Amino acid sequence: MHTVIERLHTEHVRLARLVRLLDSQSFLRTDATVPNIELLVDALFYLTRFPDVTHHTIEDRMVERLLARKALSVEVGREIEEQHVILIRDGRDLLRDLESAARGENMSQELVDIHVRLYAERLRHNMVVEELTLFPAAERSLGDEDWRAIEDKEAQGQCDPLFDGQVAERFAELYRVVTAEANAACTEEIL
Ligand SMILES: [Fe+2]
Repeated sequence: MHTVIERLHTEHVRLARLVRLLDSQSFLRTDATVPNIELLVDALFYLTRFPDVTHHTIEDRMVERLLARKALSVEVGREIEEQHVILIRDGRDLLRDLESAARGENMSQELVDIHVRLYAERLRHNMVVEELTLFPAAERSLGDEDWRAIEDKEAQGQCDPLFDGQVAERFAELYRVVTAEANAACTEEIL
């Protein structure tokens, strides 16, 4: 497997943990308790600052290269790009709404809840589509020159502030919760 695809896949596994967190936090939240909202704010802050500007950008470049080589159906390629546009837009809107809710502004709890779960579902669906279509096509059809053009030189020096070793202070609590949930899921599988 090419190293770029390997990295994207690793990021999918990590993003899946955040998707589970968004689902569980949303599902368990029965009132606007501050800790849960702050955790959701941090999760959306991370998603809009890191995956939106690095992960999706690399995948969009893969789509364009594959379309140019006619190695991916136009329908699938455009669908993936459209999913990224919607995720970026919805992520920003959701972050704004969650920040308002965290400040105690008059938000519809039910509506924010629905948007959190819809966003999580969209992100999950996007990753499944990519794993089933984009990654196999890229593995089959892209060569060294394509990969050089795709790799984001500017983003290479940019560390993931949540999952790459040194956790940024802002994400310490988010990292603790996500890691604890992943460990619990592991234990459940073993049992
Ligand atoms: Fe992806």
